[in-house]
Amino acid sequence: MATEQAPSGLERELERMLEIEKFEPPAGFRAEALWSDPAIYEEAGSDPEGWWLARAKELLDWETEPAQSLNDSNPPFYKWFEDGRLNASYNCLDRHVEAGRGDRIAYHWRGEEGERRDITYAELLDQTQRFANALKGLGVEKGDVVGIYLPMIPEVAVAMLACARIGAVHNVVFGGFSAESVRERMEFSEAKALVTVDGARRKGKTAPIKETVDEHLGDLDSLATIVVVRATGIECPMQDGRDVFFDEACAAADPTCPAEPMEAEHPLFILYTSGSTAKPKGILHTTGGYLTGATTTHRYVFDLKPEQDVYWCAADVGWVTGHSYIVYGPLANGATSVMWEGAPDYPHQGIWWELIEDYRATILYAAPTAIRTFIKWGEQIPAKYDLSSLRLLGSVGEPINPKAWLWYHKVIGGERCPVVDTWWQTETGAIMITPLPGITETKPGSATRPFPGISGEVVSEREGEPVSEGQGLLVLERPWPSMLRTLYKEDDRFIETYFQKFGDGRYLAGDAARRDSDGYFWVIGRIDDVVNVSGHRLSTAEVESAIVAHENVAEAAVIGQSDEQTGQAICAFVTLAGSTEPSEALQEEIRAEVAERIGKFARPKRIVWADDLPKTRSGKIMRRLLRDIAEGRALGDVTTLKDPAVMAELEGKIAAEEADGGG
Ligand code: PRX
Repeated sequence: MATEQAPSGLERELERMLEIEKFEPPAGFRAEALWSDPAIYEEAGSDPEGWWLARAKELLDWETEPAQSLNDSNPPFYKWFEDGRLNASYNCLDRHVEAGRGDRIAYHWRGEEGERRDITYAELLDQTQRFANALKGLGVEKGDVVGIYLPMIPEVAVAMLACARIGAVHNVVFGGFSAESVRERMEFSEAKALVTVDGARRKGKTAPIKETVDEHLGDLDSLATIVVVRATGIECPMQDGRDVFFDEACAAADPTCPAEPMEAEHPLFILYTSGSTAKPKGILHTTGGYLTGATTTHRYVFDLKPEQDVYWCAADVGWVTGHSYIVYGPLANGATSVMWEGAPDYPHQGIWWELIEDYRATILYAAPTAIRTFIKWGEQIPAKYDLSSLRLLGSVGEPINPKAWLWYHKVIGGERCPVVDTWWQTETGAIMITPLPGITETKPGSATRPFPGISGEVVSEREGEPVSEGQGLLVLERPWPSMLRTLYKEDDRFIETYFQKFGDGRYLAGDAARRDSDGYFWVIGRIDDVVNVSGHRLSTAEVESAIVAHENVAEAAVIGQSDEQTGQAICAFVTLAGSTEPSEALQEEIRAEVAERIGKFARPKRIVWADDLPKTRSGKIMRRLLRDIAEGRALGDVTTLKDPAVMAELEGKIAAEEADGGG
């Protein structure tokens, strides 16, 4: 990259900081922290079940308090707090309003064009009750699945909480997914209703959403209702008897809808995520355990003081980070959050820092990809803003490289904010491995230790024995309250994916990791065919099946290739059908096919035309070898390769591509 230029003062400083092994919690921070005594680890570790039960009672309001903690009589179908009853929306809204905190702002929402909406807890409760009644009026009942396909607007939280209020199970699909992906997810879950928008804005442009939804989902039998939020005001088709506008349905609805207490194990939501095969996995979370995990970690990992803090999780509600740390955790804790509709570079590259200055935000939780993007844009941009309100920084979604960690710590945090690098997954529901900001000495690039009450280990692939040196598989050793309960309608796949390999209730995370001499965890990345692009999880099989849907493609193999900006990027090896000639136009068509079937964020960055793909004698594609050549590494073991000439040919292609200045 910038090889010719002399390193700037900041670069030299960061180089120097790379030598620092550990960062102590800043003394001022520790003095004020909710947790500052490391004894918490022993306290939780000596009786995790009792400890989690105590957290469930400390932080949540139960209609019937649970006496029971874990029920492990039918592993791996664990249950938590089974005899308790509570309502998630009551815990997120009513109890704060009842305690006289109704005027507290739940969300400082900021629209792309600068629109401001400050929504109080009382207002959020009012809208949630109305929409819950509207849903009931539309025939949605306890246990029904409701799809939510919305951009980052406050109605997304209203829709989720309204479902929770009446016991409907929400199934949120990230707004960046294509309508085709929404269809698949609605079909698998047999959703009865879908909440969406007329159109969505992105960087000054408006895309029609409802119209596209109609094209792709119009004929889905189970889908009886489509509720449309008028977010942009663009014209959209409405079908009589099926479609209603959100605002009209709310205005007509009764303003009171008491929160219905649910059994702790009542399903709260399904969230589809990518696995090893093309078919997404429907991660199922239930009410009491999930809420306990999200609320406890949100409170103590972020050291949240609801009366003082202004908290901002810059994720999208469509991912699990948004579920746990924009909606359920923060609201259950009575926090005031920032909610930003748009991209980090619209209307300008300093918008994040402008928002922090404006709202005096104290906590920022973001993905390493965003941080690396800000590094690229330069430290002079955040330097124009007053970031002195910040007191804690968080990272999530992918490994954070030490340099990005240090930049975040120095340039954004002014060296006074602890950085919490949090490892977790859609499946875990809540943060699992993380520093505690008032206790843990941090090391840039390490998520440090499991949260109290969580037990993690790195084990060998074969025997499942702890690995003290080098790389192994990351496992969680015992059940935890916010764990997934199953894969929706796929119990066998649930067992096979997570619990079969080692038995004994050990959860296989699907990540490789290592531990250092202090016992700290360093997460390396996925071991399955899952790629992490900008913190977005994608299955290589899913992208492959989108590519082969193109009529001129015979076969495709997709791998994740390391990328300075996005962590990993999609690289596709494509074999064309018949006499089709490769061309740039065809590359664009293939990318468009992927955008249509999955979403723009899944488009391959690099496409390599391959006359043939490396396969084993039994016909399995050897992605490992493709990864090696894409990364420019020496090839690993090739003895099982059927035709070695294939690799020689591909190596020639890659060399030519590089001589050409890259694909
Ligand atoms: O590979 C790990 C990576 O993201 C995966 C989980 O992705 P998803 O279910 O989409 O949830 C993302 C947000 C929690 C993990 O298997 N990952 C997540 N956080 C980290 C991470 N890798 C390294 N360090 C992290 N802090």
